[in-house]
Amino acid sequence: MAKVAFLGLGVMGYPMAGHLKNKGGHDVTVYNRTAEKAAKWVDEHGGAHAATPAEAAAGKDFVFCCVGNDDDLRAVTLGQDGAFAAMKAGAVFIDNTTASAEVARDLAEAAEKAGFGFLDAPVSGGQAGAENGVLTVMVGGEQATFDTARPVIEAYAKMVGLMGPAGAGQLTKMINQICIAGLVQGLAEGIHFGKKAGLDVEKVVDVISKGAAGSWQMENRHKTMNQGSYDFGFAVDWMRKDLGICLTEAERNGAKLPVTALVDQFYKDVQDMGGRRWDTSSLLARLER
Ligand SMILES: NC(=O)c1ccc[n+]([C@@H]2O[C@H](COP(=O)([O-])OP(=O)(O)OC[C@H]3O[C@@H](n4cnc5c(N)ncnc54)[C@H](OP(=O)(O)O)[C@@H]3O)[C@@H](O)[C@H]2O)c1
Repeated sequence: MAKVAFLGLGVMGYPMAGHLKNKGGHDVTVYNRTAEKAAKWVDEHGGAHAATPAEAAAGKDFVFCCVGNDDDLRAVTLGQDGAFAAMKAGAVFIDNTTASAEVARDLAEAAEKAGFGFLDAPVSGGQAGAENGVLTVMVGGEQATFDTARPVIEAYAKMVGLMGPAGAGQLTKMINQICIAGLVQGLAEGIHFGKKAGLDVEKVVDVISKGAAGSWQMENRHKTMNQGSYDFGFAVDWMRKDLGICLTEAERNGAKLPVTALVDQFYKDVQDMGGRRWDTSSLLARLER
C-alpha cells in the first residue's frame, strides 16, 4: 500500500482515483479545483481530500494528475500552490493528461532538478475504459521510474507500455489520435453512403465489421451514429485540442498529416454546429446537415 494523491477528478480522473483506492488498496488523497467533486469522491470511496495540489502532494509516494490541457497541467504543477514544490524526494509524479510532448519534457526536467521522478502517461480507452479500470497507458520517462510506478498504474489499466524517454508517451498518444481521426471520418462516410443507398446500416456493419474494415469505432459507435445520437463520449473540443497538439508536433518533426489537418477542420464545422461536447463520431452529423 502506497501513499497516493490524485489531482483532477473529471470524467477520467474520478474513476481512475477510485481504482487506485479500491483495486490498488492505496491510501488516496484527492484534489479537485471544484472542491464539491472531491468531497463527493471521499463520501463514495473514503480517503481524504486536500484544498490545493501542494497539500495533496505533500509526503506522497505517487502523485497522479488528469487535467485538461498544457496550461491546466502547468497550473497544478508549477503554479501557485502547485504540486511540484511539495513533492518529496524520490516520489513519482504521473501525468495522465493528454498534453504536448514539450510540456512533458519541461516537467520531467523540473522534476529531475528537484529530486523526484516524472512520467508522461496519457491514456486511451475513454470514459468506459476509466470506469472499468482497463485503460491503455502510454508512458514516457526513465526505466527505473517506470518500474517503480508500473504496479500502481496497473490499478486502472489493462496495458501499460514504456515508449521511450520523457515525451514519448505523449508522442504515442498523438499517433493514436492521428489514426482515429481519418478512421472516424471514413466510418462516417460509409454510414452516410449506406443510408443514401437505402441499405440497413446495422445489417451492413454486422457483416463488414468481421472483415478488413472492422474497427473499435465501428463496433462501438455505429449504432449511435445510425441513430444520430452524440450526447456522450469523447468531446469534439477535446479532439480538436489533441489534433492541434499533433499538427504542432508535425510542424516540428516534418511529418505530413494531410488527412488529420482536414478532419481537424471538419471538427471545427461540428463545433460551429453546436457540437463542442458531442462525441467525435458526430462527423456524420456534419455530412447530414
Ligand atoms: N474523456 C475521455 O474520453 C478521455 C479519453 C482519453 C484521454 N482524455 C484526456 O484526459 C484529460 C481529462 O479529460 P476528462 O474527460 O476527464 O476532462 P474533464 O471531465 O473536463 O475533467 C477535467 C479535470 O481537470 C480539472 N482542471 C481543468 N483545468 C484545471 C486547472 N487549471 N486547475 C485545476 N484543475 C483543472 C477539472 O476541474 P473542475 O472539476 O474544477 O473543472 C477536472 O477535474 C484530457 O487531457 C483529455 O484529453 C479524455
